[in-house]
Amino acid sequence: MPALVLLGAQWGDEGKGKATDLLGGSVDYVVRYQGGNNAGHTVVVGDQKYALHLLPSGILSPGCTPVIGNGVVVDPSVLLSELSGLNERGVDTSKLLISGNAHIITPYNVTVDKVTERFLGKRKIGTTGRGIGPTYADKINRVGIRVQDLYDESILTQKVEAALDVKNQVLTKLYNRRAIAVEQVVEELLGYAAKIEPYVADTVLVLNQALEDDKVVLFEGGQGTLLDIDHGTYPFVTSSNPTAGGACTGAGVGPTKISRVIGILKAYTTRVGAGPFPTELFDEDGEALRRIGGERGVTTGRDRRCGWFDAVIARYATRVNGLTDFFLTKLDVLTGWEQIPVCVAYEIDGKRVEELPYSQSDFHHAKPVYETLPGWSEDITSAKSFSDLPKNAQNYVKALEEMSGAPISAIGVGPGRDETIEINSFL
Ligand code: GDP
Ligand code: IMO
Ligand code: MG
Repeated sequence: MPALVLLGAQWGDEGKGKATDLLGGSVDYVVRYQGGNNAGHTVVVGDQKYALHLLPSGILSPGCTPVIGNGVVVDPSVLLSELSGLNERGVDTSKLLISGNAHIITPYNVTVDKVTERFLGKRKIGTTGRGIGPTYADKINRVGIRVQDLYDESILTQKVEAALDVKNQVLTKLYNRRAIAVEQVVEELLGYAAKIEPYVADTVLVLNQALEDDKVVLFEGGQGTLLDIDHGTYPFVTSSNPTAGGACTGAGVGPTKISRVIGILKAYTTRVGAGPFPTELFDEDGEALRRIGGERGVTTGRDRRCGWFDAVIARYATRVNGLTDFFLTKLDVLTGWEQIPVCVAYEIDGKRVEELPYSQSDFHHAKPVYETLPGWSEDITSAKSFSDLPKNAQNYVKALEEMSGAPISAIGVGPGRDETIEINSFL
């Protein structure tokens, strides 16, 4: 069973970085298939803490080849500074492979992201301001710049011209900004070309050959299921497909190759940016989850919105991703609550609803129906097996598993690699 997908089951920040890093030592390739440096994946190795944005979390495992797939959007300046930051800390990044088909986040995409959000005012999405949405929009509009374009100056100039033709009209006439000069953009992008060239590869060929050779490939999602452009809480979503299908299109690997899909699931819920969130807490419990869980964005430093576990969302994630397993994270954060509410269904206009409503208006009105489970007060951070957990913590995990529709195969009890209870092996 060579190919696994690991993805966020909620609104991102579930602990994907830690889970990927944990498996990184046993896999041959770790592949990002969508998103870009809007992601913030924290990995804690011993006393060292790393914050990865664009690079796959497998980059910290020496035997593992990290891959940036065709579905990712790449900001070259971020890529180079992330690489040099790791090099300065003694991490070897020379094995990195980048798809020549991946799209480039240009400086004008970042500008458009920021001015659009400002223009939206109260209706803003709360994006990370990294140019993600505008870059994917250019890709779909067929005016995007790809990594391979950096190696043909004439093509690059023509493409930047085509993209800026319309954008400069919008920037100057609608947003009252200065026009962006084609030459300046081309010059900046060409400045990155030689530094990136050693990493550029036909990643589709490499990955498919690796799978034929029975190598183990792990696809690491950014963001999460509810931030998916098709299956998330649109329009309060990111502009790519973090769900399992995205791994196929974003890496050029057929669905028949994927044998396991692991959903990373936080033991409570968080969200950054705008959009509906039925179990959000505005009281001291929400404040306590934020404080104890350290719920502050890795990329933008924004406080994360916090709430109780939502089983309706977990069931939805199981369905749209075909999850085979869950990795439950941050169970330790819940230590100390006497009672822990869990959302088992919604009430929408007086009716009990068991599944996520397809209508956005209904979801905005959804009120959580809670069941309360007894909590525990014992420290669980050094638990190594399921039976080490206090009875009430075991029961909390079992209840979540039953409600969520897939087995919980690992439990995080702390941020470190070894602060994990493995129940079923992933490999
Ligand atoms: P990602 O975007 O899904 O990789 O998650 P983030 O790194 O943005 O946020 C998860 C945070 O939780 C990070 O600070 C991790 O170090 C931390 N973390 C991951 N798993 C656990 C866990 O089981 N317990 C605790 N206490 N922290 C965890
Ligand atoms: P990781 O991989 C949490 C959110 C933003 C915003 C929306 C759109 O660390 O889980 P974008 O800049 O992508 O156009 O913003 O998506 N968002 C995330 N929220 N974790 C992330 O990544 C996110 N990446 C984007 O806050 O609401
Ligand atoms: Mg994150």
